[in-house]
Amino acid sequence: MSAHDPHSYADFSQGRIVHLAFDISVDFSSRVLDIATQFQLQAPATGPLHLDSRNLEILWVRCAGGPVAFEKHASDPILGERLCLQLPAGTEQFSIGCRTSAQADALQWLAPQHTAGGAHPFLFSQCQAIHARSLFPCQDTPSVRFTYEARVSVPAGLSVVMAAERTGHDRDGERDLFTFRMPQPIPSYLFALAAGDLVFQRIGERTGVYAEPSVLEAAAWEFGENEQRLEAAERLLGPYLWDRYDLLIMPPSFPYGGMENPRLTFVTPLVILGDRSRTWLITHELAHAWTGNLITNATWEDFWLNEGWTTYADSRITEALDGPDFARLGDLLSVRDLEEDLRSFGLTSERTCLHASMRGVDPDQAFSVVPYIKGFLFLLSLERAAGRQAFDEFLRRYISAFRFQSITTEEFLSFLRRELPDIGAKVDLDAWVYRPGLAEPLPELSSRLFEQVSLRVADFSAGHLPKGEEMRKWNPYQKGLFLKMLPEKIAPADCQQIERSLGLHETRDSVLLYEFYRLAIRSGYQECLPGMERFAATVGRHYYLARFFRCLAENEWSRDLARPLFERVRSGHHPVTAAVVDHMLTQAGV
Ligand code: BES
Ligand code: ZN
Repeated sequence: MSAHDPHSYADFSQGRIVHLAFDISVDFSSRVLDIATQFQLQAPATGPLHLDSRNLEILWVRCAGGPVAFEKHASDPILGERLCLQLPAGTEQFSIGCRTSAQADALQWLAPQHTAGGAHPFLFSQCQAIHARSLFPCQDTPSVRFTYEARVSVPAGLSVVMAAERTGHDRDGERDLFTFRMPQPIPSYLFALAAGDLVFQRIGERTGVYAEPSVLEAAAWEFGENEQRLEAAERLLGPYLWDRYDLLIMPPSFPYGGMENPRLTFVTPLVILGDRSRTWLITHELAHAWTGNLITNATWEDFWLNEGWTTYADSRITEALDGPDFARLGDLLSVRDLEEDLRSFGLTSERTCLHASMRGVDPDQAFSVVPYIKGFLFLLSLERAAGRQAFDEFLRRYISAFRFQSITTEEFLSFLRRELPDIGAKVDLDAWVYRPGLAEPLPELSSRLFEQVSLRVADFSAGHLPKGEEMRKWNPYQKGLFLKMLPEKIAPADCQQIERSLGLHETRDSVLLYEFYRLAIRSGYQECLPGMERFAATVGRHYYLARFFRCLAENEWSRDLARPLFERVRSGHHPVTAAVVDHMLTQAGV
C-alpha cells in the first residue's frame, strides 16, 4: 500500500493525515472559499511534511507551539504546487488557513440565471480525480483516507449539503451555518459540498433527493426506485455501510452523469426524462459505495479497479432488477463504446491497457471508457471461468477483506490468485491487465432485445427504411445501438427519416441526441445545426461533449464550425469540461 502515487507529492514516510476539521466560509460575490483546516496526523511527526495544493493562497500555518514555517514550490501543470511544512518535533496536530482562487478547478460557481430557479446562486465541488488540492492542502492521493467534520457558512437563506452526515443548522445574523461529520474514512477525491437553494424529499427508509424546489418533485419520481435499488445492491455486495443514500440534482453543466460522493451521489439533471429510462446511471453510482468507496484504487493508474468493478456490479444489479436480456443489451452497447475508444487510441496504444503508467498524464484528459468496459469484460471473463457462484463468493470475500482500504492492481491480482488458484490457467491475466487492446477469448454476450435491433439494421442495409411504430417503443439502449450500428455515413434524407422513426425530433435524451448528431455530422445532415447548438450549450457531460466536438472537427463540412461553436458555449461549462473539449479540439487541429 506504499506504492508511490504519480499524481501526488505525498510522502508517507513523513506522516499520514487521518482526520480533518474544516471551517469553511462561502463567498459568492468574490467566488472564493475561506477555509481554516485542522489536521490530525496518525502519529507525531517531525520535520518536513509535503502536501498537495493548487492555486491556493496559504494565509497561515500553526501548531500548538506557534507558527509553522512553510514554503510553496513552483507549480507543475498537472500536480500543482508542493506545499512543504516544517513541523516542530512531535507535531500531531496543526492548522492551515487558506483561500481558494476564483479559478479553483474543483469548483463551479453558477450565477442565478444558470440555475433551475433563476433566483439564487449555486456552488458545487467535483474533486475526482486530483482537484481536492485546489480547495485545501492535503495528501491528495486515493491511498490516504481520513474522517472529517465541517462547519460551512453561507449567505442567509441558502442551504449547504455535503457528502457527509448533517449534524446541525443555525442562523447567525446574515449567515446560515451548517455542520457535518463524516465518520467513515474517505480518500480526498470523495470530499464534496454544494450550496444553493436546495430542498429535500424522502424516497424510502434510507434514500431521498436534494434539488432546487422547481425540480424536486420530478426528481423524486424519476429516482423513486432507489430504495429497491439499494436493497438489490446489498443482495449482491453485502451490507451498505454508509448509512444513507441520497441524491443531489446538479445543474446541467455538471461534467459527469453522476459522481459517487459517499452518502450523496451528485447526478446530472439530464437524466430526468419523466420516464425513468436513464436511471440505470444511479445503479452505477450506487455500486461505487462498495467498489470505489469501500475498496478504493490506490492511485489513478489503478482506476480500472474502481470503474471496471463498478461496471460489472452494475450489470449484475441491473440483471437482478430488469432481467438478463436488458442487462446484456446494456453490456453490448457499452462494448460498442469501448470499440470506439480503442479504435481512436489505436489497438497498440498504452491508453488501452487496464494498468499503465500515467506519469505526466492529466487524469481528466486521459478519461475514456477503457477502465470501465475493458475492466468489465475482464471481470466477466473471470466470472465465466470461475462459475457464477464461486465468483460471487469471491466477490464478497474481496469486499470484506479490503473494505475501507485502498489497493493497487498488483494487490488485487495476488488476492485473486490466492482465492481462485486455477484462474490463471483459464484467463490470461497478464494480457487483460497489462497489454493493450482486447484479450481473447472475449466473453459472449447475447440478448433478445439486441436481435430486434440487428434485424432492423439488416433491413436498412437491404434498402428498407425502418418504420416508426416498432422502433418508437424501443428502450433507449436499443435506439442507441441502432444508431451505432448503422453505416458510418448515410444519405441525409435517411437521417431525417430515422430522426422521426426514433422520435429524436422531440426527445430530451441527450445520450441519444449525441449518437444521432454524430451520425448527422458524418452524413452531412445539416438541418440539425440548431439542435446541435442547444446540445453544445446544455450538455455538461464532458465525455459526450468532447466526442461530439471531435466529430464536428473531423468532418469537412462542419470543421470550421467547431471552434466558434465551442467559444460561444464555453462560459456556461465547468472548467474541467472546457479544458477537456479545448484539448480535444486542439488535437483535432482546430
Ligand atoms: N466516478 C465517475 C465519474 C468520474 C470519473 C469523475 C473520473 C471524475 C473522474 C462516475 O462514477 C462515473 O463513472 N460516471 C459515469 C456514469 C456512467 C458510467 C453510468 C458518467 O458520468 O458518465
Ligand atoms: Zn463510475
